[in-house]
Amino acid sequence: MLAELALRALTPAAPLARRFGLLQESVALWSRGYRQRKAWAGHHAHCRKLITEIAAGLPHRRKVVILGSGLVRDVPLNDLCESFDEVVLVDIVHLPLVRLRLLPRRNVRLVTRDLTGAMAWLAGEADGRAEPLAELIADEAVDLVVSANLLSQLAWPVADWLEDNPARAAALPDELPARCIAWHLEDLSRFKGHVCLISDVEMVERERDGTIHDRLDLTYGVTLPPEDESWLWPVAPFGEAERDREFVHRVCAWRDFGRG
Ligand SMILES: C[S@@+](CC[C@H](N)C(=O)[O-])C[C@H]1O[C@@H](n2cnc3c(N)ncnc32)[C@H](O)[C@@H]1O
Repeated sequence: MLAELALRALTPAAPLARRFGLLQESVALWSRGYRQRKAWAGHHAHCRKLITEIAAGLPHRRKVVILGSGLVRDVPLNDLCESFDEVVLVDIVHLPLVRLRLLPRRNVRLVTRDLTGAMAWLAGEADGRAEPLAELIADEAVDLVVSANLLSQLAWPVADWLEDNPARAAALPDELPARCIAWHLEDLSRFKGHVCLISDVEMVERERDGTIHDRLDLTYGVTLPPEDESWLWPVAPFGEAERDREFVHRVCAWRDFGRG
């Protein structure tokens, strides 16, 4: 708890990241990931192996862009730093722990960005959605883009914010959380380089006797093409969120998103 408070105080974060609860969420993700490092190890290993394989199969390895880089736990950072000229990590929050880990690396660049492109608009600070990836999409040297367990995270902070701000919500288009997911897929499809999408798509809430209590569509009804592979990620094993209930996410991967 003290460590979480200290981390929150020490992390430089844009006011919008704070207002939409994403600084708090980053810190919570760090501490939950640490507590559940054994339960999450299989998911992280799966993601890292997949990204390493895709990178190894590319004809050129100039620039790789990781979207939703977060704590860089599901990304094979060493391999990418060795095999690409430049590694670009994009997230709305970069914790100091990540910045420290990157200090010795000369070919890593951090970009701080709201990847929904919509938060400033929602908050009344812009007239519409910004193009969050415009300059990276235009960059011909980007040979690989990985959306790393980001997609499902784009919608819920917006949904929560709209619920907390009903007057502002009434002046905005409907179904913005789903639109945030659809916009990200459109953004990915505009890259000329190879795109790999990894995302959790469903949460299952299960009791100790195996009874399924609830299922939640994490994509807000947005249709995705058939995935190349999928696996389970025990995000909150028994005792983490609730004593007698576990929360398991189904993660899907699209190795060549948009062209597979
Ligand atoms: C589940 S984590 C991804 C895990 C991460 N790849 C890792 O290895 O630790 C989701 C990430 O998405 C980021 N995120 C959530 N909403 C975002 C937004 N609107 N713009 C940019 N990043 C966002 C969070 O800060 C978090 O780091």
